[in-house]
Amino acid sequence: MRRTILVTGGAGFIGSNFVLQRIAAGDRVVNLDKLTYAGNLGNLASVQHNPDHVFIQGGIEDEALVQSLLAKHQPQAIVNFAAESHVDRSIVSPEEFISTNVVGSFRLLHAALAYYRALAPAAQAAFRFLHVSTDEVYGSLSRSDPAFTEEKAYEPNSPYSASKAASDHLVRAYYHTYGLPVITTNCSNNYGPYQFPEKLIPLVILNAFHGKPLPIYGDGLNVRDWLYVGDHCLAISLVLERGLPGKTYNIGGDSEMANIDVVTTICSIMDEFHPSGAPHSRLITYVTDRPGHDRRYAVDSSRLKRELGWSQQETFSTGIRRTIEWYLANTAWIQEVTSGDYRRWITANYEARGAK
Ligand code: NAD
Ligand code: DAU
Repeated sequence: MRRTILVTGGAGFIGSNFVLQRIAAGDRVVNLDKLTYAGNLGNLASVQHNPDHVFIQGGIEDEALVQSLLAKHQPQAIVNFAAESHVDRSIVSPEEFISTNVVGSFRLLHAALAYYRALAPAAQAAFRFLHVSTDEVYGSLSRSDPAFTEEKAYEPNSPYSASKAASDHLVRAYYHTYGLPVITTNCSNNYGPYQFPEKLIPLVILNAFHGKPLPIYGDGLNVRDWLYVGDHCLAISLVLERGLPGKTYNIGGDSEMANIDVVTTICSIMDEFHPSGAPHSRLITYVTDRPGHDRRYAVDSSRLKRELGWSQQETFSTGIRRTIEWYLANTAWIQEVTSGDYRRWITANYEARGAK
């Protein structure tokens, strides 16, 4: 069934992948994005003139704007990707994380509830508010702990994860208190095309390409569970279609890896795709650790697999090759996103750390 979806944060990494996927599948997307440093209309160049993509620059905290968009476009769903998403930035300047992730999500929920209440019963039954959250709200695992299930208590450790946890609680409250048909998804680390190169995988690909140091925080043994962005977007579509209101669904990659192994894998593939006369692994540089650095994340997606029939299409070995190929083939995109603010952030973050 063709749907109109209000997507927030649809010019960011995961949001733009989702927008492209939904438009290709026949939906109409109203895309509300503030275009912060992380938002990039270049991600959506292929749908720039497509009538099924309506772009509006604005913030989710602007309740009047959200209300007017809902009234005008009458979406059957809202998918909330909009957020400040980088843990290191949340440590340096947490305030924006509270404004967007907490206050913004609250205002979006508030506008969604007013809209939902005015819908006819059949439209109310079909309506969904899907909130995209993270595995980081569950805290940090030891090596022997079981993977996070949806029942795991929240134990956020960074300003970023605390702000996401707060928004998840508000989403839950709008279901229990007001009956807004919400669903929350908690996913693990995404990677793939259009990821802003402040995050580990695209940063390492670009630095390796330019022969620059590959910074590893701490001992490099922190573990993340890597999920290919296309698989994540397919999961979100499935949850929109068949997920139950009031429920949460974990989405993981079943690909736990220590950071150092992720980086050496990228180095080997770069040796093959972009030989530079010496192994790229020579560029690996251990730097001062992230404060409060969570040791391990692992996500148990068995609810999503069992109840909704989802499974990953990409393994880490296939997904990382596709990702590196994409970055090597999209130099114009990279040049655009690595100007200005990006350079300031990289200088500030890595000069402060220094090599160990
Ligand atoms: P991103 O930083 O690449 O993109 C965020 C987008 O939100 C940008 O386009 C930005 O302009 C927009 N935005 C920021 N503040 C806004 C506001 N106030 N109003 C409207 N738009 C605003 O983030 P991402 O990596 O694509 O993550 C998307 C969502 O998924 C976030 O909610 C994040 O917490 C969650 N998540 C991400 C990952 C990951 O590995 N990237 C993993 C788990 C969960
Ligand atoms: O787990 C889901 C989360 O994944 C999302 O909620 C966040 O939005 C997303 O940014 C991501 O958070 P991480 O902090 O795990 O991702 P990041 O790419 O910043 O770091 C991945 C790991 O690599 C982490 O252990 C820190 C480490 N790291 C990161 C950078 C940028 C390094 O060792 N060196 C680096 O330069």
